[in-house]
Amino acid sequence: MLITIADVLTAEEVTQACTILDAAEWVDGKVTAGYQAQAVKENLQLPEGHPATVKLGEMVLAALARSPLFMSAALPLKVFPPMFNRYTGGGHFGTHVDTAIRALASSGQRIRTDVSATLFLTPPDQYEGGELLVEDVYGLHSVKLTAGHMVLYPSTSLHRVTPVTRGARVSSFFWIQSMIRTDGDRTLLYDLDTAIQQLAKESPGNPIGVQLTGVYHNLLRRWAEM
Ligand code: NI
Repeated sequence: MLITIADVLTAEEVTQACTILDAAEWVDGKVTAGYQAQAVKENLQLPEGHPATVKLGEMVLAALARSPLFMSAALPLKVFPPMFNRYTGGGHFGTHVDTAIRALASSGQRIRTDVSATLFLTPPDQYEGGELLVEDVYGLHSVKLTAGHMVLYPSTSLHRVTPVTRGARVSSFFWIQSMIRTDGDRTLLYDLDTAIQQLAKESPGNPIGVQLTGVYHNLLRRWAEM
């Protein structure tokens, strides 16, 4: 499932992030790439543990915590601390699959990457190219979002970022270990939750809502890994 979440960050938060990131010292993005991805990755990143990474990462995590759509779609168990990247001057990231298990530099704690996230920080009219292309069973999806919006997609998918030929594309990227490992099961729960929310809106107090909520929680109880 590929899902867009609008307005994860407010306009003020986007401006604050861009101001800090414009002044930051970027390093070669190959530092966090696995062996295969290194060969096709050409962008810049802020180092893990850099004060700006930590400060803005906390802002992103706080924003995720207030997003019911993120909670419903990702069913997060652990969120890898958000990182930041910059593509400019033809920078791109060729086709790859994200590394399955990542260890935090700070604690060594390991996270399985189930869901990948890109939170766009640059308005799309300020750069050319830089589309995120995600392949799934239904074909190729091209994603280029308004600043402050985010896309979630399965970490199992092949994906790439096309060359940025004008301007610079800055975004936050990170991974989520979900309580629900497979994309198919997660999608079922998301669809069910969405239908329950819709029913509650259109038919408040409908007893069918209670039954369906019971089914949702009992499936989650059966499938969730903690
Ligand atoms: Ni990737």
